[in-house]
Amino acid sequence: MNKHKIFIANWKMNFFPDDVHDYFNVLTHILNEKEIYDKALYIGFAIPFPYLYESRSFLDKSVKVDYRVETGAQDCSAFQHPGAYTGEISAQMIKSCRADFVIIGHSERRKYLNENSAILKEKIQRAQEANLKVIYCIGENDAERKNHKHFEIVEKQLQEVLPEIKFKSDSLIIAYEPVWAIGTGNNASPNQVSEMFDFIQHVLTEKKIVTDLKDIPILYGGSANSTNAPELYAIRNVGGFLIGSASLKPHEFKNIILGCLKSSFT
Ligand code: PGA
Repeated sequence: MNKHKIFIANWKMNFFPDDVHDYFNVLTHILNEKEIYDKALYIGFAIPFPYLYESRSFLDKSVKVDYRVETGAQDCSAFQHPGAYTGEISAQMIKSCRADFVIIGHSERRKYLNENSAILKEKIQRAQEANLKVIYCIGENDAERKNHKHFEIVEKQLQEVLPEIKFKSDSLIIAYEPVWAIGTGNNASPNQVSEMFDFIQHVLTEKKIVTDLKDIPILYGGSANSTNAPELYAIRNVGGFLIGSASLKPHEFKNIILGCLKSSFT
């Protein structure tokens, strides 16, 4: 997994059905042109629930490439069994829409939906049971960074959630997304990324937070775009990106991937 070059588009709560068609029409054309090519590529789309099934079918019909192009959800329920949980979407349901992964712990959900470590742990467990790969998001907010608490916070987010979970192989990706960088146009600097990625790698390996897996990919997220991504991509331990607003424009998404694959920084 760590050998993959990972680019995940996080659509968040955007797009209506016609937009989804337009998006994939343009994007599949781009992918099929083979300008972007690398066997190790792993491109993912984190799609709103209503479009998951159809998106997978569309990609199956239209994308002719021999690297991985996967779909995923942006959240799943913490409840284990089907039942009277109005509005909830289970990991099993997501899997049955032929999705491959789910984002868990995005800072927007931590903030707006009050998701805490206990809930996130349950959600990750549900995803594992359903054979969904987890993209677990971590990252400090502005005040925590200003108070030099960023390492502490990130370690806590890893430590409180991951250790007791039994992971299947290739089933965990970490996304470091400093909250102050998300949607602000103010991405983390190469130095900030470098020291944080070394730290996360250190915590994962030395503190035995996840014992079942080796080589857990770590992504960067937070105002990533085609201008800043190539330089960040060249940093040790950066396995790719989780991209929000820039991924909503297929050509910009393509330029991010292309820029990284051709990065003169590497
Ligand atoms: P952004 O969002 O690229 O728009 O900053 C990233 C994310 O929240 O995953």
